[in-house]
Amino acid sequence: MDMIVLIKEIIETIEKNENYLTELDRVIGDSDHGTNLLRGFNKIKEELPNLTGLNNAELFNKIAMLLISNVGGASGALYGTGILRMGNTMKDKSDLKIEDWILALDAMIEGIKMRGKSNLEEKTMLDTIIPAVETLKANKDDKDIKEIALKVSKSAEDGMNSTKNMVATKGRASYLGERSIGHLDPGAVSSYLIIKTVCDIVGRK
Ligand SMILES: Nc1ncnc2c1ncn2[C@@H]1O[C@H](COP(=O)(O)OP(=O)(O)OP(=O)(O)O)[C@@H](O)[C@H]1O
Ligand SMILES: [Mg+2]
Repeated sequence: MDMIVLIKEIIETIEKNENYLTELDRVIGDSDHGTNLLRGFNKIKEELPNLTGLNNAELFNKIAMLLISNVGGASGALYGTGILRMGNTMKDKSDLKIEDWILALDAMIEGIKMRGKSNLEEKTMLDTIIPAVETLKANKDDKDIKEIALKVSKSAEDGMNSTKNMVATKGRASYLGERSIGHLDPGAVSSYLIIKTVCDIVGRK
């Protein structure tokens, strides 16, 4: 997979959805999720010329650092930590196989859980990411990569939608308690959009 193409398409996804993500965060947070992410991804866009030629571990490390220092907000630290942990599993790996992605994604989930002191069903990005990774694991031996990508994307979407009926217990949304019910979690939506972007690229091959 061409990581630079992947990064560029993720940046485009965040650009297109900045307002939507911020609007979701207006309802149960502080109206900044789209703005926060775009700030970080714009910085990555600026740095793109310096990212080509890095190995996977270096690339993930660099992206993580850019997100941690530029996104601001909880999501920057959480995504940043997750991506940093992914990079740590990629040392000496150039051609990533499905098993390598699974290892990396498990490390990401552990990183986010640790940093956020959070788990499933707390109305966060984890409600999208964990089921998507579970589906990837369950289907990893399927020969049809496109089929796997479709299933992973669908699980991420279902996970995202499941946050609607959850009570938030983490982040600012938790201040709303029961009143957070009925609204999608902005981080769960950004995670879905990013996972969908990756799955669409894989499915195009
Ligand atoms: N402890 C946590 N664990 C996992 N995800 C979290 C946690 N706290 C917040 N999030 C995710 O981050 C998203 C909010 O990101 P945002 O960029 O708006 O930062 P923020 O305004 O500082 O966040 P928050 O108000 O939730 O603390 C939430 O929708 C949720 O998915
Ligand atoms: Mg916010």
